[in-house]
Amino acid sequence: MARNKFAEIIETFEIDQDSLREIAASVRYDLELALSENDSSSLQIIHTNQNLPQGNECGKFIALDFGGTNLRAAIVELSGNGDYKILRKAQSALRSEKGDFTTADTSCEALFDFIAKVIGDAIEGDKNTPYLLGHTFSFPASPCDENDAELKKWTKEIAVPGVEGKPVNELLAAALKRQGYDNIRPTAVLNDTVAVLLAAAYQNDGIHIGSIYGTGHNSCYAEINSAFAPGKIINLEIGNFYKIFINKYDAIVDGHSTNPDEQRLEKMVSGCYLGELFKAALTDFYPGFSKANFDGEDVSHLALANAAQISLFMHQSDFPLPDDDTISFIQTLAAKILRRSAMIVAASYCGIAWHLYGNSSFKAKIAVEGSLYEKVEQIKSGMAEAFSKILDEGCQIETFLQKDGPLLGAALAACMAQDK
Ligand code: GLC
Repeated sequence: MARNKFAEIIETFEIDQDSLREIAASVRYDLELALSENDSSSLQIIHTNQNLPQGNECGKFIALDFGGTNLRAAIVELSGNGDYKILRKAQSALRSEKGDFTTADTSCEALFDFIAKVIGDAIEGDKNTPYLLGHTFSFPASPCDENDAELKKWTKEIAVPGVEGKPVNELLAAALKRQGYDNIRPTAVLNDTVAVLLAAAYQNDGIHIGSIYGTGHNSCYAEINSAFAPGKIINLEIGNFYKIFINKYDAIVDGHSTNPDEQRLEKMVSGCYLGELFKAALTDFYPGFSKANFDGEDVSHLALANAAQISLFMHQSDFPLPDDDTISFIQTLAAKILRRSAMIVAASYCGIAWHLYGNSSFKAKIAVEGSLYEKVEQIKSGMAEAFSKILDEGCQIETFLQKDGPLLGAALAACMAQDK
């Protein structure tokens, strides 16, 4: 009886070859619909005003990385030839004992004052040296002038009021001014995927796709097809893709989120939601499990955990010691959720690569940053399996970790903004 129920739950996370190919084909199709401004696309792409760097960019800049979990600020020195140094760095979690700066009770000023403080820490309170600042802002934002972009809507469960619809560098500049940093001028805002792509293109030739696979998931690419405004980078906001079959646990996670019906793909793949997904599936078996609280990285630990560790985990969550079947269920469920995530992300990469390079023969390299990609071994193996199931012979996708992508990319964007 229990075994049947376990098998039934696990089965809902299976994804077969045909479905993977279908996701890849729909991503390409929807991308091209969006490029021709057809409203039936599930993608709300953002045309950025950012080009790829030349590789010879030089100078010292402040780089700000405002992601979904952490805030980082740094002084980055670019010295051309793909070389750079992070001279000083400060960081702070958005949610910690010091406070949670992501909630609906946080004011816009409080959030930006907190960011300005982290920047101040990175430059040790220096209020004299003039700096240009590049701002990696990991949310959907549309360019509103050469140096600024407006937040369209929060994603990844951030709910701070008063920011949506506003130019984020203007808010940042006001906060810096409130703290006496008249010497810092924010001159560029870029998505984190764009920052990863800039960083990768600064250091390598032939890279056109950048991606983030951590708390959130998204990709961007530099257009090379003459039919579609070549040169500029396009932020795909692929987390919003919704032409994908969701199971009943995906629907539960979506229903509990701050933005139901949005970011469908992201809620199936990214670290912000994998813990919730695992909890929803486990709660189907143990209703009391809904009280437990854990995140995407816990899911990866459980997939690899041994029996004793799983017993401890259940015990800490106030559950009776699990029997062998339950232990194996927990391991399998966690592994399936991670594998499905990796396969969906890989399918989306295939769709983007097909758009860029056609589907007869190519060798694509994709620069990726983010904790799931970096730290979770099952993610890489799941992606490799999906690539082999989706791509025809002669087509190859290789992913690689782009170190310091958001900070290096922000410094590059600040440098390139000087010439605009
Ligand atoms: C979310 C944001 C997107 C960002 C991604 C990765 O999907 O909407 O802008 O790139 O998270 O951080």
